Amino acid sequence: SWTPEHFVDSMVLALQNTIGPDDKVILGLSGGVDSSVAALLLHRAIGPRLHGIFVNNGLLRKDEFESVLHSYKDLGLNVRGVDASQEFYAALAGISDPEGKRKAIGRTFVEIFDQEAQKVEGARWLAQGTIYPDVIESVSVKGPAVTIKSHHNVGGLPEKMNLKIVEPLRALFKDEVRQVGDALELPHNILHRHPFPGPGLGIRILGDVTPHKVDLLQRADDIFINGLREFGLYEQVWQAGVMLLPIQSVGVMGDERTYEQVVALRAVTSVDGMTADWAHLPYDFLAYVSNKIINQVRGINRVVYDISSKPPATIEWE
Ligand code: XMP
Repeated sequence: SWTPEHFVDSMVLALQNTIGPDDKVILGLSGGVDSSVAALLLHRAIGPRLHGIFVNNGLLRKDEFESVLHSYKDLGLNVRGVDASQEFYAALAGISDPEGKRKAIGRTFVEIFDQEAQKVEGARWLAQGTIYPDVIESVSVKGPAVTIKSHHNVGGLPEKMNLKIVEPLRALFKDEVRQVGDALELPHNILHRHPFPGPGLGIRILGDVTPHKVDLLQRADDIFINGLREFGLYEQVWQAGVMLLPIQSVGVMGDERTYEQVVALRAVTSVDGMTADWAHLPYDFLAYVSNKIINQVRGINRVVYDISSKPPATIEWE
């Protein structure tokens, strides 16, 4: 029967048998569970011949880049942090269409990642934290019928650098990835982190993305996510986040009329992200978060809660 310990032992052996004794492997780290677990597996198999690259796209959660990079270094991983926020903001300037934003983010990621990867001399492999549901989703994305959403990947790098692909988590579901991460002693804060989309806050800012909107959203999102932790609710939901809507609404503060932005809170329960139900969060908690956001984030004067399930809604709004 399947156990995470067996999986680790056999995958480490398989990686050691597949990857040549002097080969270097490049891996893009995102701070998510999947790429982090892939990194720990590869680290166990080949140590510092794994070269991790963690790109800050400027669309991560508040303080996420610094804190996750720190965790990676504590784990002994050979990882390089690259702050490319300004490049991403420049690429996104003036783009409002969701697929347009995904493409701009994906293209910029490939550019930055390529530059960094090419600095790793003697790299033979590109590792990816692809898990089973990604395999299925990308089939439907690439299928002839319709483009649902273009998940960004690593573009033409494998051909250009003549890299072979290694995907150690390709057969696993999310809960299995977490069990493997646990067996590898991935710290709790990364292991139980909610899924977070590659394009990050870029697809949670409806309409065009500016550094100012990113700042507003990061602060509101931080209040929501920390609130979930404070109330012991974080691990009861599959995923949560805040959407910054391209809408202003009238409010009142003291004697003043305000005309500011609206955010929507989104939290869902799910087993695999393919279907999801809106999380029935306690009213007391929603009241707490709403007050805190409105009081602390100038520029937001209204908070709504999304009560749509998937399908027919999706988890993200874009
Ligand atoms: P939806 O919104 O399609 O999301 O219900 C399902 C899961 O996928 C994540 N998601 C993405 N992840 N690139 C990603 O890497 C994307 O473009 C993307 N769009 C959605 C979403 O956060 C959820 O976990």
